[in-house]
Amino acid sequence: MKILYYNSKEEGSKKASNIIIDNLKSNPKIVLGLATGSTPETLYKYIIEDSQKENLSFKNVVSFNLDEYVGLNESDEDQSYKFFMDNHLFKYIDINKNNTHFPIDFRDKEIKENYDEYDNLIKKSGGIDIQILGIGNNGHIAFNEPGSDINSKTRLINLTESTIKANSRFFTSISDVPKQAVSMGLGTINKSKKIILLAFGEAKREALERLIDAKSFDINWPCTSLFNHNDLTIITDIKL
Ligand code: GLP
Repeated sequence: MKILYYNSKEEGSKKASNIIIDNLKSNPKIVLGLATGSTPETLYKYIIEDSQKENLSFKNVVSFNLDEYVGLNESDEDQSYKFFMDNHLFKYIDINKNNTHFPIDFRDKEIKENYDEYDNLIKKSGGIDIQILGIGNNGHIAFNEPGSDINSKTRLINLTESTIKANSRFFTSISDVPKQAVSMGLGTINKSKKIILLAFGEAKREALERLIDAKSFDINWPCTSLFNHNDLTIITDIKL
């Protein structure tokens, strides 16, 4: 585990962008695992800027998003993670939309318990080269809430009250926040060849400390599933 400290989210995100751009240069067919939430917004801004400056193409890049809401109200479709990715990254780069993947279409009405086909598709694409991760205040990664199995695969998740509350800032009312999502599992994420976890702001301190101090997996802190990943870089502005 490598921990890189920066004074601000801006500086930390710039570093993360540099890592991704360098890897894209050496592998134009890179498979990226992408995260949503407020954390990676600045990273995506830099990826757009830096790739334009260097005239880099995303034409052959493949992406897999971590998660997607289930049961969004029609009026809240702009809160879907698909919309987020379009508006924060995809529409500014030349990625082929057919190469971008989400575990579920947020408009799907037929909801299943398991989405093994997503894990299989990731595997068929050669696995995720770089997975970008944020972290929830309660230590969730993607939407793997406390209680998630370390070997879990892509599946339907019931969101906890604390996650619903944290995400209610994006909705008119807390009752509009979806109660469920489909998320890559902890096992799926752990298979990524390289992971960059971004954690900015004091609210993330406890979760981050739990991960950094972990000697084994603690089912109450999903982030600790990464404790022995062999290529994990944490980028943070939290002084530890
Ligand atoms: C959401 C997402 C996670 C994200 C986390 C933190 O629930 N599913 O992928 O890492 O919350 O969000 P933020 O970056 O806005 O703090």
